[in-house]
Amino acid sequence: MGVPIDIIPLKTEMQARSNHLKNQGKTIACVPTMGYLHEGHLSLMRMARSMADTLVVSIFVNPTQFGPGEDLGAYPRDFERDQSLCRKVGADILFYPSATEMYGSRFQTFISLEQLPFHLCGISRPVHFRGVATIVTKLFNIIKPHTALFGQKDYQQVRIIRQLVQDLDLDIQIISGPTVRESDGLAMSSRNAYLSTSQRLSALTLYQALCQTRNHLENGLTDAKTLIQSAASLILSFPETTIDYIAICDPDTLEEIQTIDRPAVMALAVKVGKTRLIDNMMLSPQ
Ligand code: PAJ
Repeated sequence: MGVPIDIIPLKTEMQARSNHLKNQGKTIACVPTMGYLHEGHLSLMRMARSMADTLVVSIFVNPTQFGPGEDLGAYPRDFERDQSLCRKVGADILFYPSATEMYGSRFQTFISLEQLPFHLCGISRPVHFRGVATIVTKLFNIIKPHTALFGQKDYQQVRIIRQLVQDLDLDIQIISGPTVRESDGLAMSSRNAYLSTSQRLSALTLYQALCQTRNHLENGLTDAKTLIQSAASLILSFPETTIDYIAICDPDTLEEIQTIDRPAVMALAVKVGKTRLIDNMMLSPQ
């Protein structure tokens, strides 16, 4: 099914291909992923497809963004299926390197930001965003895209990527795509595959807590502490849930705000059993 796709496992080959495409005057859009693709990834790929002559998708489960004891070894993988989905959406190139290809054995240069990682997910995952910023910068240097697309579902991630592009003067347009959800509201995630049937029901509470907060806000409740407490009680009323964080913060600095008197983002991370799930929603006062 679909058009042919080139699978490129080597950095030098990918760079040579990108140079060649650019010399021919072609534009390149890229969608970095860790694979086990779902509709959230595919929606970004479709957006990207319409924005450039060439669509490069990368699949790489990046070890440096997993902390000790996290799910690097268990992270779901299905390259055959991913490949066929990439073909169906019309990707031209699939960059699929090994960990050795990406990092070699003497890797020692990391990109880390000073402030944005010290909020939300960065608190319980202290090395995560250093790993993300580093791999994304490497992918940008290898794929050399004009445009790169990321999902709003990982709000802090895309905020950090925009910041690093700005700070390091990278000539790349960053586009973010809306969160794609299952029909009952659960944000799509490769990690949803870890959930048992009963945990899948509990997982719905993330979206429900966000919607409840939006409703409260529509009814004039603007105090962040009260809104967070109410979200926490809803979440904890579901079996097997533990809260990593619930925060209402400034969309730009990610610093917590006390009152929703201006646009804000509510972000949360909840463990359902052992599976850590995240979600977020933009909130605007009346
Ligand atoms: P991964 O979790 O595979 O996600 C790849 C891209 O898909 C990210 O930009 C993510 O925000 C987006 N995405 C995931 N679920 C989504 C959903 N339900 N709706 C819309 N977009 C969604 O995020 C990563 O990989 C990695 O950290 C990566 C950026 C590839 C660096 O390793």
